[in-house]
Amino acid sequence: MTDQSPQAQVESITKAFEEDIERFVRFGDSAVVSELDLETAIAEQRAVADLRTRYLGKKSALAATKKLIGRVAPEARATFGQLVQATEDQFQMRLDQIGTALTRYIEEARTARESIDVTMPGRRPRAGHRHPITLMRERLEDVFVALGYAIEDDREIETDFYNFDALNIPENHPARAWQDTFYTIDGFALRSQTSTVQIHAMQRRGVPVRMIAPGRVFRRDTPDPTHNPMFFQVEGLCVDRGITMAHLKGTVAEFLRRMFGPDTVTRFRPSYFPFTEPSAEFDFSCFKCKGSGCRICKNSGWIELGGSGMVHPNVLRAVGVDPREYSGFAFGLGIDRMCALMYELDDIRLLFENDVRFLEKFE
Ligand code: FA5
Repeated sequence: MTDQSPQAQVESITKAFEEDIERFVRFGDSAVVSELDLETAIAEQRAVADLRTRYLGKKSALAATKKLIGRVAPEARATFGQLVQATEDQFQMRLDQIGTALTRYIEEARTARESIDVTMPGRRPRAGHRHPITLMRERLEDVFVALGYAIEDDREIETDFYNFDALNIPENHPARAWQDTFYTIDGFALRSQTSTVQIHAMQRRGVPVRMIAPGRVFRRDTPDPTHNPMFFQVEGLCVDRGITMAHLKGTVAEFLRRMFGPDTVTRFRPSYFPFTEPSAEFDFSCFKCKGSGCRICKNSGWIELGGSGMVHPNVLRAVGVDPREYSGFAFGLGIDRMCALMYELDDIRLLFENDVRFLEKFE
């Protein structure tokens, strides 16, 4: 380039500039610019700024030609000076035109991106809803509250006294064995039945007492379609003067009629629990087939629900109540299995898998 005359040098620079700017010329048209996405427009704006530095910066070839003005023959000096100035003005104008179009578009696009349309409908947060176990618990609480029962809530970690001794569970009873109960390292047990609340309730409220206690219990059971190591029970306790087995049967039968319909029939089968004497397990006629036999009741017409009986005199004594003056009944049933029956679930484990597709069905 240095061999060229100053005029020729300016011409070469102009030629190079025309080649380099050609790619950007279309951005002088605002319709073309508005087709760009914001990120591309910013990148192009940067490229135009680079071009400006290359052709108009202090170290540009054009700036170098200004130093040649002194070397031009005096009669041509003014014309050359004008040529350099005109070229510089021309570059400036062309770059400004493109740069301005890009800058305007970038500002508009940024404003549009950051603006909020206050007329747009808001995004509704997805409302949660109650778990099927909670729905079931609330239903049975409603039934018992209507029958005059209080609702008790108590601890899930217990001492041997509440878990076993006060419930008349002898030292060598299998329910005390490690394989049935979860123990903490310092000798407490996770309650394996809500019957522990019978003791707390009588200690707290004294007698007469009428209460139910829904809550979580824990057993070292291997999970299968009807067992979980953590499940829910509801305990019922009624202690007063003159309470008999007839009250127990009437209460359980009425509860099941209110839960499963007025035609529901209840039956009691003799059984054994250390804390009740006599003891009975109770079944109710299948709400699906009304007793004729179906998949839900495994063709027996009956569904097993829980255990019950007359409160053992030793349990009353453990809380300082005189069994010659007071008697009572107690019952306990599994809420998870009741839930499975009510909602026709094949497997109670579904209740705790936390699959939203399953849980959403229980609005
Ligand atoms: C009891 O737990 C006694 N406390 C019931 C009772 C209370 C009797 C008051 C007398 C007086 P049982 O171990 O049968 O009884 O359990 C009661 C119910 O809990 C069962 O009928 C069943 O519905 C449910 N159940 C037991 N084990 C599991 C388990 N692993 N998973 C889910 N439900 C269970």
